[in-house]
Amino acid sequence: MKALVLSGGRGTRLRPITHTGAKQLIPIANKPILFYGLEAIADAGIKDVGIIVGETKEEIKKAVGTGKKWGLRITYVEQKAPLGLAHAVKVSQRYLKDKPFVMYLGDNLVKEGITSLVREFKRKKPNALILLSRVREPQRFGVAELKKGKVVRLTEKPKRPKSDLALVGVYMFDKNIFEAVNNIKPSFRKEYEITDAIQYLIDKGHKVHSHIIQGWWKDTGKVEDVLEANRLILEFLQTKIEGKVDGDSRITGRVVIERGAQVVNSVIRGPAIIGKRSKIINSYIGPFTSIYWGTTIRNSEIEHSIVLEESSIDSISGRINESLIGKEVSIFKTKAKPQSYRFTIGDRSRLEVL
Ligand code: TTP
Repeated sequence: MKALVLSGGRGTRLRPITHTGAKQLIPIANKPILFYGLEAIADAGIKDVGIIVGETKEEIKKAVGTGKKWGLRITYVEQKAPLGLAHAVKVSQRYLKDKPFVMYLGDNLVKEGITSLVREFKRKKPNALILLSRVREPQRFGVAELKKGKVVRLTEKPKRPKSDLALVGVYMFDKNIFEAVNNIKPSFRKEYEITDAIQYLIDKGHKVHSHIIQGWWKDTGKVEDVLEANRLILEFLQTKIEGKVDGDSRITGRVVIERGAQVVNSVIRGPAIIGKRSKIINSYIGPFTSIYWGTTIRNSEIEHSIVLEESSIDSISGRINESLIGKEVSIFKTKAKPQSYRFTIGDRSRLEVL
């Protein structure tokens, strides 16, 4: 069995972060989202993985490489335009050939992994196996309608959902999916929808099984989801202090301080992770915070947030909360006159100030 990991797309809901980087590489507890999926695939015993890449191809290739570190053989499959999940399957037909495969959305996290589901698929041999999860706002997702345990209808982001069962971003297919993706028409949002392709399988009488997962699942399409995923992953953090913590600092709860990081006269209240080469000086890092590599936080307080690499936060008077801060960002209290806000921020940024 092969895997197809979707790491193209536009990432419009995560702008401005996605103006300069792939959303699948946003670190969650200091590890790119995409790597969690690759680990789950490797754990399920799959070796051959095709990764769908679009505009951010070079960045993805640089981060993932050959896949050797997970024991995977990676092939990059280019999708010229992000025309939908079913289109990604279409362009991968030559790579996947006639073999069954698992399709994994590169921005999804599934706590329980996929090992038992791959086993179930191999044992029961349906034409497709979809994963479902009960959600509070089904209208944001692809929604499945079941009758006597059988999937009868799938609808993409319905206005009036018929159930609270959302499609999780992991699907298993046999070769029949190619007939489906080659026969459907683009939807009103001009995308080839995977829900339409699966509906095609149902309508043609193919066996489409479903499995309702019990553990959490997160689709990291929006900032709130990225922060929530960070919270869920940090819940399982194990303390590991490899960097330097001076005698004036206090560390409580589960905290990781990576090699080369420095904590000076600060309080770190876990679960929190401080990345390589980062410096925390006279500051407070509160729960559910991930500080990535080479970032400096001085005379400031931050919690429930993610800060990417090489950024700097200095002397901010209010506590920073529920924030996703990009790469090489500077936020600092100005000494210049007149005392005023001075912003240089990219398109579609959002600032909430006191
Ligand atoms: P989505 O989150 O549905 O789409 P998107 O990444 O374009 O984001 P937005 O809606 O905010 O503009 O995509 C789910 C995953 O599939 C994600 O990892 C990107 C990937 N993808 C592709 O590889 N090719 C595609 O054509 C699409 C639509 C998504």
